[in-house]
Amino acid sequence: MKLDIDLINKLKQSKSLVFFTGAGISAESGIPTFRGKDGIWNKLKPEELANFNAFMRNPQMVWEWYNHRKKIIHESKPNPAHIAIAELQNHFDVTVVTQNIDNLHRRAGSKNVFELHGNIERNYCVNCKKFYNEELDFSSGVPICGCGGLIRPDVVWFGEYLPEDQFTGSEKASAECDIFFVVGTSAVVYPAAGLINVAESSGATIVEINLEETPLSYLADYSLYGKAGEILPEILSACATLI
Ligand code: APR
Repeated sequence: MKLDIDLINKLKQSKSLVFFTGAGISAESGIPTFRGKDGIWNKLKPEELANFNAFMRNPQMVWEWYNHRKKIIHESKPNPAHIAIAELQNHFDVTVVTQNIDNLHRRAGSKNVFELHGNIERNYCVNCKKFYNEELDFSSGVPICGCGGLIRPDVVWFGEYLPEDQFTGSEKASAECDIFFVVGTSAVVYPAAGLINVAESSGATIVEINLEETPLSYLADYSLYGKAGEILPEILSACATLI
């Protein structure tokens, strides 16, 4: 894909970039997305797996699902899209704001990462909130905290609030950046998707990278349609020649 010369010039004048990412950026690492043709939510019911009441009703089933996802994530690697973003840190102030719980941005070397929906590598007790970040033992069923409470994955389920520090930090970065990249998200889940409006109304240039249009494509100054794993390395190489 030939990058728009205006976008390259915009990059030349820019100092701070935000990458707002969704499941689509990890698709090329073999991690299924949620919506779209082969999306998880076409096969499974989020109300049975990704909400607190469902967990308290049947923690065994919810844990089986998260352990299945964790296995897929542990068998996957950051792809060229994650790696390109990490390498752009050498040229710009880069902030990653991700909806993904797969930890792949950090594994690719991104330092400044806000995790809006949590991280599958962390767990905590529903009662005393004690954190358990080591591998949990499932040999005697679902893991129980010393206080007797159930241990759950540190991910944000439907109907739950986003972690305040992560959201406010993301809002600030979105309002202060020069270019806001929207990568591999269907932009239908709020309040995360609202960050695109925050960036746009603060005067940032909006660049959308997706296989297809989304409900917020109208906000984009540049829409780059294709695979993130192909487009982001091109942006990186364009930047490498700039500096
Ligand atoms: N490159 C770029 N975009 C891609 C690619 C790819 N290789 N593959 C898929 N996409 C796009 C799809 O076209 C779609 O727009 O990524 C998007 C994935 O959308 P969703 O599956 O809805 O994922 P996401 O937007 O991250 O979902 C938001 O919903 O289920 C909850 O908590 C979950 O964080 C998640 C949130």
